[in-house]
Amino acid sequence: VTKIGVLTSGGDAPGMNAAVRAVVRTGIYHGLEVFGIIRGYSGMIDDDIIPMDSRSVANIIQRGGTILKTARCKEFFEHEGRKKAFENLKKKGIDGLVIIGGDGSFRGAQKFSNEFDIPCIGLPGTIDKDIAGTDFTIGFDTAVNTAVDAIDKIRDTADAHDRLFIVEVMGRDAGYIALHSGIATGAENILIPESKTDMEELVHSLTEKEKRKKLVNLVVVAEGDEFGGANEVAAVIKKRIPQADVRVCILGHIQRGGSPTCLDRLIASRMGYHAVECLLTGKHNVMVGIVNNNLYYTPLDNAIKAKQKISEEWLKIVKILAS
Ligand code: F6P
Repeated sequence: VTKIGVLTSGGDAPGMNAAVRAVVRTGIYHGLEVFGIIRGYSGMIDDDIIPMDSRSVANIIQRGGTILKTARCKEFFEHEGRKKAFENLKKKGIDGLVIIGGDGSFRGAQKFSNEFDIPCIGLPGTIDKDIAGTDFTIGFDTAVNTAVDAIDKIRDTADAHDRLFIVEVMGRDAGYIALHSGIATGAENILIPESKTDMEELVHSLTEKEKRKKLVNLVVVAEGDEFGGANEVAAVIKKRIPQADVRVCILGHIQRGGSPTCLDRLIASRMGYHAVECLLTGKHNVMVGIVNNNLYYTPLDNAIKAKQKISEEWLKIVKILAS
């Protein structure tokens, strides 16, 4: 490869800028020309592609969001869209791509690469941590720490008023933010899409705790849980325990923004550096992950299909520690 493009795609995640910076500077270090593609695949289709130099990524390692902007692009799911995108890359002589995003973005990259034979390297950038083949995804640590900060604050009010708070965190298909933030804030229970919730048991344990005056109660719910989020869970609980003073708090997009934590900056820098190394050593269509502190490459196909499993052990620990 001699000219590479870098883009961010799907939901933004803190640390994406650190990854862009690493890709640009490693590319330049190796004498490559590096282009930034604006708004993910949309920018590829619209020819919104700009040359990047070392200075263009100055002062961004600490910034949330993404200087390249991001989008979820429907047109790229059509062959016509991908063809247009390829022609724009060809015009500029771009012969390798780094895609920072989640599984939807990798699905697009895989299709694109199969059709047009351009090497695509994926970096896992999502707050959800729902990608196989890596212990970390860029943005998760920041998002979960934001959730922990917020839930700690909610706990003050839960305590002052003896209320039961149902807090909703992000995660349409994945319960990692809920699991980690719930454990770290001492939640009574955690409801996640990956496992079924025994509502009878939850109602029973909340009622029992109320009786023995265990007054601070927090339940953390992932937005994609089987009941459909915190409002729905609260409605069931209010009906079943009418005497409980129940409140709902939906944390929402505060979890997507903000300055990345040290961990997110580190993994983004490491992964970004290795993405360029992958292109230089002729790797095709892999995602760069980190497993047991070692670099780990997963074919984009597998990073897409396999989701991480949430261990039953954690769910057991939650219940025991909340007693
Ligand atoms: O994938 C990240 C994520 O924040 C999910 O947790 C959430 O369900 C989704 O994106 C929301 O996406 P948006 O607000 O961009 O439509």
